[in-house]
Amino acid sequence: MEVIHTVEWMKQVARQVRAEGRLTGLVPTMGALHAGHISLIEAARRDASPVIVSIFVNPKQFAPSEDYTKYPRDLEADRQKLEEAGVDFLFAPSVEEMYPTGFRTSVNVEGLADRLEGKIRPGHFRGVATVVLKLLEIAAPQFAYFGRKDAQQARIILQMAADLALESEIVVCPIVREPDGLALSSRNRYLSPEERQGSTVLYRALSRARRAIEEGEREAMKIGALVRKELADEPLAAPDYVEIVDADSFEPIMRLTRSCLVLLAARFGSTRLIDNMQVEIAVSPGGGAGAVTCSL
Ligand code: PAF
Repeated sequence: MEVIHTVEWMKQVARQVRAEGRLTGLVPTMGALHAGHISLIEAARRDASPVIVSIFVNPKQFAPSEDYTKYPRDLEADRQKLEEAGVDFLFAPSVEEMYPTGFRTSVNVEGLADRLEGKIRPGHFRGVATVVLKLLEIAAPQFAYFGRKDAQQARIILQMAADLALESEIVVCPIVREPDGLALSSRNRYLSPEERQGSTVLYRALSRARRAIEEGEREAMKIGALVRKELADEPLAAPDYVEIVDADSFEPIMRLTRSCLVLLAARFGSTRLIDNMQVEIAVSPGGGAGAVTCSL
């Protein structure tokens, strides 16, 4: 695996790969790699060669109240994991390389970026969209891979790619979970043993919603109440929000229709975790609601 630190060299490699007619897969990350990232790399390896992984802790996506300096960083451990995963290039630029003095541009995906995570973390999605667009420009991949755990982020990136007619195809991959259901996240390492135990309530709460939906419940308010009740039973969980939204607009809905998401965020001590379940309700040939698929 070749490690690249400069934008110019990464662009040079991307140009060379393109000239050879090869398809590149890019997995953008902020490091602190776990099995969730490896699943994105595996997806990239199935579709493309070479596979590029970027590691860049993006200061622009941290709200002023969040501690950018404390985000876990261990480039050497990550490098080893990427070698083992068969990655071809690691792109690990410095902040100065990505945002040289005088950098002024930002990308905002109107509407979608202001709600939910965007409301709690002002400027977060502007930072994400800006860095992702820049990474796509530098690495010029045919495919770029993102996890569905960050469902709002994935939706915003898909919107940006469509609006700006980007060449790269955005691929959204399933959530990877621990055996007890906790979605993998770089933040899980901050949980104390008690909080780690308590955090399983997120999966239980979504599973409760799944049961209700599979039994035919379609009222968003009732499903939300079941999720909140489950969260309230865990003393270590301080919920930020539970929302049921349309998968396209991310606006709250009253009744479950074709494609929607149950989204939740909660704090365990100082660690904030998010999770979600995607719900697809097929329309039967007669026009009525058909089969339901709940993806956790
Ligand atoms: O999901 C992440 O790790 C980051 O938000 C991303 C997409 C790498 C942009 O910095």
